[in-house]
Amino acid sequence: MKILGISGSPRKESQSGVYKLVQTVLENTGCAYELVSLRGKKISGCIACLGCMKDNVCKVDDDLTGLRQKIVEADAYVLGAPNYYSTINATFHAFIERWFQFRHQTGNTLWGKVAVAIGVGGTAGQAPADAIEKFLLYNFVETVAKVAGQGAASCYSCGYGESCQVGIPVMLHGPEVKITEDTIPNVSKQQELIKAAAEAGALLGRRLREGNNRQKTTLAMQAKLMAMFSETA
Ligand SMILES: Cc1cc2nc3c(=O)[nH]c(=O)nc-3n(C[C@H](O)[C@H](O)[C@H](O)COP(=O)(O)O)c2cc1C
Repeated sequence: MKILGISGSPRKESQSGVYKLVQTVLENTGCAYELVSLRGKKISGCIACLGCMKDNVCKVDDDLTGLRQKIVEADAYVLGAPNYYSTINATFHAFIERWFQFRHQTGNTLWGKVAVAIGVGGTAGQAPADAIEKFLLYNFVETVAKVAGQGAASCYSCGYGESCQVGIPVMLHGPEVKITEDTIPNVSKQQELIKAAAEAGALLGRRLREGNNRQKTTLAMQAKLMAMFSETA
């Protein structure tokens, strides 16, 4: 059993809250895994060329091409994205938009697999975690747990964080804010968050070891998607 972890943050691994949480979830699964960072990768969004309709293989040639096989071979996913403007960032959006290639005709490559969705924001990470869950549902992949945390907004390191009136430090701590190690949010120091990530990993690992019945999971996700459509129709 192999799990594919994806960190959608463009930041260096050592600075990214998303990367840290994806890694923590993976480490606690007890399964073999690979963690891929999208940092520096050039991935276009879906261009609706319909080139994937017959064979479920995207014809856009970029950095997603080399990831396709890893997505296909994985039994489960741990996917994380930063909160940009109350949703997932553009790089991660392009990455997961291209999973459109798996959805046509008898394309059941991903159906019934399981995942953990992770979101990190300067204030909150729930929105990207929820968005990832929704994307996964379109491929009938079940999100067994979501982890949402608070990371360090760029405003803490941009050099103007204490004076900028529209920056997150002033928004969160008021106009007298002093930026210190203690005021900079750091996912590694948030015990409850790390515990939630570890529990999500353990749950995902258990689900795989107990034998994920992909057919049953697929049926449940199909019903969930249909219910979502009927609510928004
Ligand atoms: C362009 C941009 C937009 C952002 N928008 C939001 C936002 O709407 N809400 C929020 O909570 N954080 C926002 N942030 C802050 C990031 O979510 C935060 O820095 C988070 O730690 C990013 O994850 P990372 O540490 O893995 O890169 C934004 C950051 C950038 C660069």
